[in-house]
Amino acid sequence: MSRMTDKPASVADYGDLFKQRVHEMACLYYESGSDEEITLEQNRKAFKRLRIRPRLLQDVSSNDLSLSLLGHRVDLPICIAPTALHGIVNPDAEVATAKAAETMGTCMVLSLHANKSMEEVRAKTPNGLKWLNLYVFRNRTVTLDLVRRAECTNYKGLVLTIDNPSLGQLARTRHRKESSVHFRKTIETHGYGHLEKYLKGYDMGPIVGTTPSDMDRRDPSATWEYVDWLRTQTNLPIIVKGVLTEEDAILAVNHGVNAVIVSNHGGRLLDSVPASIEALPEVVRAIGDKVEVYIDGGIRNGIDVFKALALGAKAVFVGRPILYGLAHSGEEGVHHILEILKTELIRTMQFAGCRSLSDIKPSFVVHESHYTKL
Ligand SMILES: Cc1cc2nc3c(=O)[nH]c(=O)nc-3n(C[C@H](O)[C@H](O)[C@H](O)COP(=O)(O)O)c2cc1C
Repeated sequence: MSRMTDKPASVADYGDLFKQRVHEMACLYYESGSDEEITLEQNRKAFKRLRIRPRLLQDVSSNDLSLSLLGHRVDLPICIAPTALHGIVNPDAEVATAKAAETMGTCMVLSLHANKSMEEVRAKTPNGLKWLNLYVFRNRTVTLDLVRRAECTNYKGLVLTIDNPSLGQLARTRHRKESSVHFRKTIETHGYGHLEKYLKGYDMGPIVGTTPSDMDRRDPSATWEYVDWLRTQTNLPIIVKGVLTEEDAILAVNHGVNAVIVSNHGGRLLDSVPASIEALPEVVRAIGDKVEVYIDGGIRNGIDVFKALALGAKAVFVGRPILYGLAHSGEEGVHHILEILKTELIRTMQFAGCRSLSDIKPSFVVHESHYTKL
């Protein structure tokens, strides 16, 4: 904790408070990874295996964190990943999150499974850069309707999550029946955002995410043809989320996407896939000169952000830390989380000898094994 302000001083502090304060079911749902949580754990550990090689006396008296994401200016390379059901921890839900993103001048990806609709979020935050999250739905009319709504409400990109033809088995909630009751209550209380209108006539079933109402919507038979199809339906940029290999990165580019998010869904789907930061270099090598490459997974401080940028990510997205801030103090908490990450990134850049994002080059970061030869 910071004694000056009594606010938590780091994402880790916010994470500790989160565990103490929120409903046990919410905590288990947010924090869990799948199966043995190998990927979840490696998302953090892999960052710790990287070392920074600082350069000295580089005049770091000023710094510039601004950049363009698919042609839109943002003030920092730290953006908000889509996470479901913000209403679990705060009644203002995604509206509070979006307000913080707007005042910090960064991009927010609104989850497909938001409690607030894309229209309400846009109306309450008219200026922020927003992208809408989509899943691969069986019913393409529903997708098209969502796309048209996104176009009409000034969302500037579609984040198509392609890594979940099936649901992950969340390690910490799989034996807990109460978790589904908790989700039902959240949706009954806070609504189901932009999905609400398609739910009519569906039985919500006992467990959100495994009900006919949800799973019928996903299409496990989908192929890259789905991306081709989406490409023909809209001029909005398509950002595919969940790529972990150079093979899929190349396919994504060949199928017309505008950007790729290297992601393992926060370790919540296929366990034992690489940490996102481990997968980043091969994706950047394969397509980094053709489209923008971003990353999410395990980013908890400004040093992690620096390492990801050095290894070729244009920007990073954060998931759970945003929820920690939201649970703590709504919009203000999310704002503070972003501010902490920004301040830590600036400090890291100064120590490393970088003034602007373009100064952050791969030579700044090496794997720890570089030094074990000594
Ligand atoms: C509680 C929770 C809900 C999530 N919901 C979604 C979602 O609706 N759509 C999606 O594409 N990814 C979703 N994700 C994955 C995040 O977008 C992101 O990939 C991941 O959280 C990044 O890792 P981090 O939490 O370590 O920052 C979710 C993750 C969590 C933890």
